Amino acid sequence: MRAMVIEEFGSADRLRFVELPCPTPAPGEVLIELRYAGVNPVDWQIREGHLKELFPHQFPLIPGWDAAGVVAACGAGVRHLKVGEAVYAYCRKSLVKWGTYAEYVTVDAAAVAPMPANLSFAQAAVIPLAGLTAYQSLFDFARLTAGQSILIHAGAGGVGSMAIQFARHIGATVITTASARNHDYVRGLGAQQAIDYTAGDFVAAVKQQMPGGVDVVFDAIGGVTQRQSYEVLKPGGTLVSIVEPPSQQVMLQYNFHAGYVFVSPNGRQLHEITRLIEAGAVKAPRIKEMHLKDAAKAQELSRDGHVGGKLVLRILDEKRG
Ligand SMILES: NC(=O)c1ccc[n+]([C@@H]2O[C@H](COP(=O)([O-])OP(=O)(O)OC[C@H]3O[C@@H](n4cnc5c(N)ncnc54)[C@H](OP(=O)(O)O)[C@@H]3O)[C@@H](O)[C@H]2O)c1
Repeated sequence: MRAMVIEEFGSADRLRFVELPCPTPAPGEVLIELRYAGVNPVDWQIREGHLKELFPHQFPLIPGWDAAGVVAACGAGVRHLKVGEAVYAYCRKSLVKWGTYAEYVTVDAAAVAPMPANLSFAQAAVIPLAGLTAYQSLFDFARLTAGQSILIHAGAGGVGSMAIQFARHIGATVITTASARNHDYVRGLGAQQAIDYTAGDFVAAVKQQMPGGVDVVFDAIGGVTQRQSYEVLKPGGTLVSIVEPPSQQVMLQYNFHAGYVFVSPNGRQLHEITRLIEAGAVKAPRIKEMHLKDAAKAQELSRDGHVGGKLVLRILDEKRG
């Protein structure tokens, strides 16, 4: 199969287009023939070696954790998926080596779900990692419920695009931060209030809308943004970060519930996301399609931090055109 690989950690120009043997599915795994691979910030973070202490890795290393494609083979014991079925998955594994910037990937069948029938492969490929991150942060950690209010930082980003929609779907009031050029986009996803974080202090803008504070803050930025976010939380409110663990000291001082979520593969939750999309409750983020061979360019764009929606790589294959 053909794939993009790195042979060592470093800059985007280390990505090489190569031929590698196709992996075979172990018991409990499926082999996915990829149509599209979603691009996530973690892809360039891995390429630059930022996660090397967190995950064992091996070169040549194929980046990419998001996949949409067709089941090409099932390992022993896989019963709920069939060859030829259109699926998507968050394909993180214990060893970082066989990613989704490739024609094929093997993945634990428990992480795989049928793709939403009303999405293209390109749209589906950007959902698993971002969708599961938003789902696990809002529902598993923050226990967001109808009638609550939530401030979602970086609403125009991949995770933010899903978080806004999940929060609105369950009946929460959503305020989000995004630069002005993305305000129509985030409002189209359901945000009731969009704050231009480049134009001034988001704290003052949130307090103007919600003088008593919000019930939940979803932090996709970290640093100063995370620290300032405590000022807009109601007493006893919840801050969930996907970037860095919140200060334990502040949590105790103000009686906040706060924590860091690192997304886990979860086929059952992905199935639920499929259901929400097919029911029309949630739609795919805006996508910009690029070619697998442009993976370096895509990762540079992602690294700049201002992709509105998601980048997705089309996996080449002459057989399919
Ligand atoms: N812990 C986990 O499991 C997990 C999972 C997924 C992602 N993450 C991390 O979460 C972060 C977000 O991920 P993502 O995939 O959503 O990223 P992304 O799609 O690359 O986010 C880009 C968006 O961030 C917005 N943005 C940049 N700076 C901002 C600021 N100061 N305030 C508000 N918005 C700002 C940009 O908006 P404008 O263009 O309008 O400026 C752009 O729309 C990344 O650091 C990623 O590594 C963690």
